[in-house]
Formats: sequence, C-alpha cells, structure tokens
Amino acid sequence: MSSLPPWLLRSLLPLGLAGHLAIWVGLFNRLHALNIPDETVRRLERFFVFPAAIGLLPVLIVATWQGPELSRTSQALFTAYGALSMAALATAAAVWCWRAWQRPSDEQPLASNHTLVRDWRAEQETLVAPGRMQYVARIPGNQILTPHVCHKRLILPTLPRELEGLTIAQLSDWHWTGKFTADFYGRLVEESNQWHPDVVVVTGDVVDKREYMLEACEVLSRLETRLGSYFILGNHDLRVRDEQGLRQSLEAAGLVDLGSRCLSLQWNQTPVFLAGDERPWFGPGPPVEDWPAGAFRILLAHSPDRFPWAHNQAFDLVLAGHTHGGQIRLPGIGPIVCPSAYGVRYASGVFRRGTTVMHVTRGLCGVHPLRFGCPPELSVLTLERG
Ligand SMILES: [Fe+2]
Repeated sequence: MSSLPPWLLRSLLPLGLAGHLAIWVGLFNRLHALNIPDETVRRLERFFVFPAAIGLLPVLIVATWQGPELSRTSQALFTAYGALSMAALATAAAVWCWRAWQRPSDEQPLASNHTLVRDWRAEQETLVAPGRMQYVARIPGNQILTPHVCHKRLILPTLPRELEGLTIAQLSDWHWTGKFTADFYGRLVEESNQWHPDVVVVTGDVVDKREYMLEACEVLSRLETRLGSYFILGNHDLRVRDEQGLRQSLEAAGLVDLGSRCLSLQWNQTPVFLAGDERPWFGPGPPVEDWPAGAFRILLAHSPDRFPWAHNQAFDLVLAGHTHGGQIRLPGIGPIVCPSAYGVRYASGVFRRGTTVMHVTRGLCGVHPLRFGCPPELSVLTLERG
C-alpha cells in the first residue's frame, strides 16, 4: 500500500482509520462474549484494546503522511496493517449491507409493538446520584431517563392454547452501581406492577457493587406477579464477588433462582419447562435431558449467544439481555458496540430459528449511563399462537 502514490494513500486514510476501528470494536465485542475472568477483561480493555484503538490513530495518520520516508520494515508493517484494516472495513460493510437489505433468515417480525415513552427527566435530582451523574444525565440526547415500556405480542408457533395471552414482564440489566437511586429502580418496578404480569423474569446483570445488594433485593421484593418471579445472573453480577450471597438475597426477596436449573411447572393447568442458562460466566448449563414430553419450554439466558444451543435443545422461547441494544445507535447505521460473538446481530429484537423464538431486550440500564438512539426498555411480552 505504501507503494501507492502519496495522494491516493492520503485519500484512502479515512477508510483505513474506519477499518482500524472496526478491528478493535470487533475485538471488544468478542472479548465480552467469552468466559474470561472479569478482572482480566477489564485489564485487557484498559491496557490493550483502548490504547491500541486510540493510540494507533495518530501513528497511522503520521505514517500515511511520511510514506516513502519510513524505513523498509515500517513500510512493510504499515502496508500489512493497512491491508488488514481495509479487509475488516470491507467485511463489516458487507455484513451491514446484508443485514440492511436482506432480512436475516432468523429475524422475525413482531405481531405488534406498542411503545409507551416515559419521560422522567423532570425528576432527575431524585432519580440519579448527586454529583457527576447529574451532569451525565443532562447530556443532550442521553436517553437514560426516558425508558420505553414496550408491549410486544410474540408469535410462537408451538404455544399451547392454554398459554395464549400469558404476559411476561422481562426486566433485564439493572446494573445497580450507585449511579441511579433506589427511587429510579422503584419506578421501574412500579411500571412492571401496573401491567399485572403473569410472570416476571430478570435476565441477569442485577448488581455490579456489593454495597447495593440489599437495596436491590429490597426493591425487587416489590415485584408483583400471578405465577412467580424468576432470575438468572449475568457477567456483571460476578463483580459482587459473592455469588451465593446474591442468589440467597434474591431468593429471600421472593425471586426463584433459575441459574443452571430447570423447573417443571404448571401454568394455566399446562406443563411448562423453565430453564436458566448463565453460560459462559456461570455454569454448568441447565440439565435439559429430563424435560417432560409435551411441556412448553422457556429458557432464560443472559447472553443471546445461547440461541443456537437453545434451538438445538428444542426450546420454544428464549428470553435474553446482555447486549443493551448496543446502547449507542448511530443514525442510519445502528449499533456498533455489542458484547456478542455475533457482533451486533443479536443487539435487540425478536429472532426465530425453526420453532425457537428469541426475544432480546435492550435492558433497563447500563454500567455506563449513556444511551443515544437506544432508550432503556422494559419489555412486556404477550404470548400468542399466531
Ligand atoms: Fe448488562
């Protein structure tokens, strides 16, 4: 590439820089999909991914301008990395175009999605922590205080007639970090209670800091349902460093622990098989071999990456979170950062493989309190046969 005329090399620079960022964002996304200890992930981010992504930008700009003046070794390295960046950009663009113009085979349209927008910005002083968070919440366009209550009718081809109309409130990714007050989380619980859901599921990332564990459990104890509340943990719950204590506290608050477990239940006199999959961060997977024949199978999975496995195990419905919808969606492009082995493919939405339907919620919060083009989501799902 460095043998190209300098004017052409400089013209290609913006594309090269975009490809460079595509490489490192792709690495970041996959890093958060693997079973790597949380401390290691954070160290890799701090000392490797972010410095490389940001630090290499001026190096690439200077190298492009100096071109022929560089040593032969530098020119070879620059050429190789430039080619890699261009290939990464071409791949990312091809995938984006395919997703934009040809609906992926596993993406399913909803029967309906009725959205109620809540605007809590006027109550900011009582809903977010004092100090720096007050300024963060005021950043123009930041949607952390305008959650959407999304009432979705899910079409499930295998749904028993007796379960038609069943309502599940999916509340995921609470991220109790102290950046939001107990009042904020209490408002989310009130929103859920207003729908009188038959079932509530909490699909992971409940508490990031141990000191908020009791507050979280007290607020979640106010959840009201007809058939029960169930939870699994997510990767951020590892930060509490007291997995058993967190599970016990949530159970004491009235939620049923589904982590690596299966339950055979009767909902509306109909057998339901409910399982929880917290892999790759907690294991093992749920023992699904002994499921009763004819039962409707529902899997709670923190990561949507469990979708292929759930399909192979003949689950009828998968409820996942973790990806937060990408948190920042660029106009016309969509999400960029998404902690999944599949990149942004399962950032949020409804997907179908065979008879397995997966709903991925954008979640309620985030460890980084910034959301642009991607408001928090409280999902109220009504099951229908279609
Ligand atoms: Fe999360």
